[in-house]
Amino acid sequence: MSRARGVLCRACLALAAALAALLLLPLPRAPAPAPASTPGSRAPPARASAPRLRPEDVFIAVKTTRKNHGPRLGLLLRTWISRARRQTFIFTDGDDPELQLQGGSHVINTNCSAVHTRQALCCKMSVEYDKFIESGRKWFCHVDDDNYVNPEGLLQLLSAFSPNQDVYLGRPSLDHPIEATERVQGGGTVTTIKFWFATGGAGFCLSRGLALKMSPWASLGSFMSTAERVRLPDDCTVGYIVEGLLGARLLHNSLFHSHLENLQRLPPDTVLQQVTLSYGGPENPQNVVNVAGGFSLQQDPTRFKSVHCLLYPDTDWCPVQKGNLASR
Ligand SMILES: *[C@@H]1O[C@H](CO)[C@@H](O)[C@H](O)[C@H]1NC(C)=O
Repeated sequence: MSRARGVLCRACLALAAALAALLLLPLPRAPAPAPASTPGSRAPPARASAPRLRPEDVFIAVKTTRKNHGPRLGLLLRTWISRARRQTFIFTDGDDPELQLQGGSHVINTNCSAVHTRQALCCKMSVEYDKFIESGRKWFCHVDDDNYVNPEGLLQLLSAFSPNQDVYLGRPSLDHPIEATERVQGGGTVTTIKFWFATGGAGFCLSRGLALKMSPWASLGSFMSTAERVRLPDDCTVGYIVEGLLGARLLHNSLFHSHLENLQRLPPDTVLQQVTLSYGGPENPQNVVNVAGGFSLQQDPTRFKSVHCLLYPDTDWCPVQKGNLASR
């Protein structure tokens, strides 16, 4: 028995040596292939090997609640969602025939409670996750109903990654990893783990590859028991599953923005390049992005209409640009 193994091992060693010799051998340099540009043959463009990401490859989940349908969601529907209908899904907690009429199958009543508790928020995230898996799409992105999403910017950002790899993109809400305690089932042992998470209020994205790996702790309601086990809010729980349980990493990205940061500090010439934006709301109305445009602060307190008209000036309700007027 041990003799046989010895023979096998020697054979392995010989093979390894032969391979090493092959690798170390200075190979004659093959002449560089001339670019195939014979007349008549159309060379494919350089990027042809990487198929462009299409809008319908992305699943954007917007988390809202029944009482926000009018003011908050209405603004999003008129602005960025109008340019991202195929990829946007609205997750709410109450029936709204008017909204249903506008959104059809893209409006999902989660039947989760409308209260702002950890359980209710995790219930919504759990439904968002399941609907994404069901959709078969390549990318899952979650945003809140006070986020402006730049659809082109998002597509461009995601195009740089493969949906088959472990990708978790977003803005950390803290400048240090969070520490959570896990209670090991049965025994009374408590362990602490450190991990980063992307703040839900700025929006975050997950590749399909990573989302599928999360399924034992996220699918069909298990997201809620995972969150209960570590007593963490919905967005932290995503970080816990990705970093703490799967050993993947959050890619810190500064193109995502929540109302928790100082939005006035964003340089005005970079606002249109951001992937998500937000606004302070009634508690902090001054916290909005600094952007000029056809709307005053009174007309557009969130600045979303101004941003939208700069990105999509052909929108019918946007003020006619002076340049266009002059050229008429
Ligand atoms: C919410 O309840 C309705 C009515 O029972 C049902 O049709 C719908 O599928 C439920 N939604 C989810 C996400 O389970």
